[in-house]
Amino acid sequence: MIATYVAVILIAITLLSVYILGVLADSFYSTEKVKLFAKANIVSGLITEPDGMTDETRDSIARTLLGSNIRCIVVGKDLRALFDSNSDSDIVGKIVIREAINKCILKGEEAYVIGEGINEVKMLSAAVPLISGTRTFGAVYLAESIAGADAAVGDIRRNLIIFAIITSVLVAMLSLVLSLMTTAPIDNFISVSKEISKGNFSIRAKEKGASELQEMAKALNYMSQELEDFEQNRKKFVSDVSHELKTPLATIKLICDSIVTTDNPEPDMVKEFLGDLSEEVDRLTRLVERLLTLTKMDANQKVKEATPVDFTVMLKAIIRKLMPNAHAKNIMLYDDFGDISLEPVMLDYDKIWEAVYNVTDNAIKYTQEGGFVRVGLGIKNQMIVVTVEDNGQGIPDSEKEHIFDRFYRLDDSRARDTGGTGLGLAIAKEAVLLHGGEISVKDARNGGSIFTITIPYIRETAV
Ligand SMILES: Nc1ncnc2c1ncn2[C@@H]1O[C@H](COP(=O)(O)OP(=O)(O)OP(=O)(O)O)[C@@H](O)[C@H]1O
Ligand SMILES: [Mg+2]
Repeated sequence: MIATYVAVILIAITLLSVYILGVLADSFYSTEKVKLFAKANIVSGLITEPDGMTDETRDSIARTLLGSNIRCIVVGKDLRALFDSNSDSDIVGKIVIREAINKCILKGEEAYVIGEGINEVKMLSAAVPLISGTRTFGAVYLAESIAGADAAVGDIRRNLIIFAIITSVLVAMLSLVLSLMTTAPIDNFISVSKEISKGNFSIRAKEKGASELQEMAKALNYMSQELEDFEQNRKKFVSDVSHELKTPLATIKLICDSIVTTDNPEPDMVKEFLGDLSEEVDRLTRLVERLLTLTKMDANQKVKEATPVDFTVMLKAIIRKLMPNAHAKNIMLYDDFGDISLEPVMLDYDKIWEAVYNVTDNAIKYTQEGGFVRVGLGIKNQMIVVTVEDNGQGIPDSEKEHIFDRFYRLDDSRARDTGGTGLGLAIAKEAVLLHGGEISVKDARNGGSIFTITIPYIRETAV
């Protein structure tokens, strides 16, 4: 990345430098060319006599060139020098060979040459013909050194090279810092992802750098947090299940040992022990069944088997089914929704049945003899609202948020004795959430509890 930046900058600066230097040189040469020809024309205007030059003419030429570094040579038609402004030279009378003079005499018109050297010094030279009537009788040749301009262009070239080097170093440093800023968080993401894939879910990415990188880090951290929670829940579930299975298994083992170690046991005693054994097996079966129901709920992220459900019919069927339990405790179990009529709703019947059944079953189980359990039904904000109210022992506020957790029982040992697995409300919650609904509990006015289940009122006709 750094090399690319530096290469691009270098190429750009080189191209720009070549262009700037070219433009500078061109503009210098063209200005000088105009000046040189102007002077050459003035000089040629001073020379009128074809066969020689008077002193007066020489003086005039010297005056014209005064203050400049221009060398002036006047030649006759035979290319012999008639005049040379350089008094040190002995060129006068000799043949002068200069490209500009040759061109000029040959064609009888102005000629201009850049770079012709006199004694190794690069010159800019211009020649104009001396014309009398239609006859060319010689030429005026002016030459000026371009060493100064070349030196200036050289200076600029040097400065541009220094500028290019400094810029490239700065760009290299800047891109190094930038690439470190960009790649460091990405390196961090890669190592965090590798750790997560190895099962280390407690690791977190650093939320630093540009906002996009911070968003990426947040997403990665959210994922690892979710995985960590999931892993913790899994471990807790496995340990809870093992714990729940251990108690009935220990009881079964105890009963079996008692039968085995007793010599000639009485048939009545064996029968009693076998009865206890059967109860424990029932308890185990119930636990396993409930676990299976729960895992099925987990696996299904959405409702697969929706059928039209008439809530009044379903609630009445649940009440009918639980009526014997209520009678056994002399509890008044009743519905108070009269003849409310709801259109059938598309639901997974078994799951919603399970949810309402568990809540109603609890209300009967955790209400003392002679109490009541009322099942209500209504519609509020396009939601079906099922309420199950009892006047039982109630649930303390501190426990309300936990009772929907798996294996949670208020009075652990007593609940276990009543055969409670602590999974009923967890199953109910999963079933309700699966349908996009909610389940909650509040204190009832008379000291008991009111469980409320809400389910979106999606009519069969709307599906
Ligand atoms: N209506 C209620 N009144 C008082 N306590 C309740 C009521 N409903 C539930 N609870 C408490 O919440 C706990 C969890 O209920 P949940 O239905 O999940 O389990 P469970 O009833 O013990 O077992 P299972 O449902 O398998 O028979 C119960 O053990 C009980 O302590
Ligand atoms: Mg229950």
